[in-house]
Amino acid sequence: MKGIILAGGKGSRLYPMTKAISKPLLPIYDKPMVYYPLSVLLRAGIRDIMIITAPPDVESYRRAMGDGSQFGVNICYGVQHVARGIADAFLIAADFINGDRSCLVLGDNLFHGAQLESLLEAAVAREEGATIFGYPVMNPRDFGVVEFDENNNVISIEEKPKEPKSRYAVPGLYFYDGQAVELARTLKPSARGELEITGLNEEYLKLGKLHVELMGRGMAWLDTGTPSGMLSAAHYVEAIQARQGQYVACPEEIAWEKGFIKDEQLAAIGQELKMTEYGQYLTALLEK
Ligand code: DAU
Repeated sequence: MKGIILAGGKGSRLYPMTKAISKPLLPIYDKPMVYYPLSVLLRAGIRDIMIITAPPDVESYRRAMGDGSQFGVNICYGVQHVARGIADAFLIAADFINGDRSCLVLGDNLFHGAQLESLLEAAVAREEGATIFGYPVMNPRDFGVVEFDENNNVISIEEKPKEPKSRYAVPGLYFYDGQAVELARTLKPSARGELEITGLNEEYLKLGKLHVELMGRGMAWLDTGTPSGMLSAAHYVEAIQARQGQYVACPEEIAWEKGFIKDEQLAAIGQELKMTEYGQYLTALLEK
């Protein structure tokens, strides 16, 4: 299965200078924003990853993340020249996906919670169709919204509906079978001029192949793409880490747990970062 992180060039809602700064390299508390979606892909066991960025950002990503060997994975880079919509990721990554199954995660989404691993396992285990997630929110109008019956069969999915049919928002994490690219190619731009990810999910729904997994109480899904979103996410990460002494979204730790990197490699990274709490945390993992 292939993993895609979409961290493209849509106008930033953060603050003026972010035009000159790669947004996903900005820190959320103690690590770059992109570490959060990257951690989700690693947790799902995905080791072939494409990061899609805006043209000016490719080089800073390459400098920061390289070929992914630090995390025991392969990372390559795709460029989105114009922010044409989230589903555009499948046109950009068509050759990379090469008919395989894929998982797309948005570059500014943070997921955390005990349930995450089993939700990912369920999605990875599904060979056919698409899997989206449902997360109850107070403001469903701001998101894609999924409606489903008592057996969790999807009835409808709508992008930012004026009258939401449920309070379940669809987070920026999607799993698809090998048909995603072909279906994405049939999409037309929406009223806001974008190739909508909700449009792709509707195509799967028409085929009777759209599945929803619900994220329950205690799961955190945070959007870090606005000033208040960034601050709340930082507070969340700080609170959990300070209390539990376990990091939220530490890709090296996940890679090590999964056997993607060995003790020596983790030790070397910890040593290189020894001036930071992050590096000290990595070193301490080996002492437990
Ligand atoms: O956060 C989840 C929501 O994300 C879903 O519930 C919606 O169905 C989905 O359409 C999307 O909603 P937004 O319209 O709020 O997403 P936004 O345009 O803010 O883009 C989300 C991220 O994806 C953002 O970090 C920028 C990146 N992006 C977006 C577009 C449209 C790109 O990299 N390229 C793009 O062309």
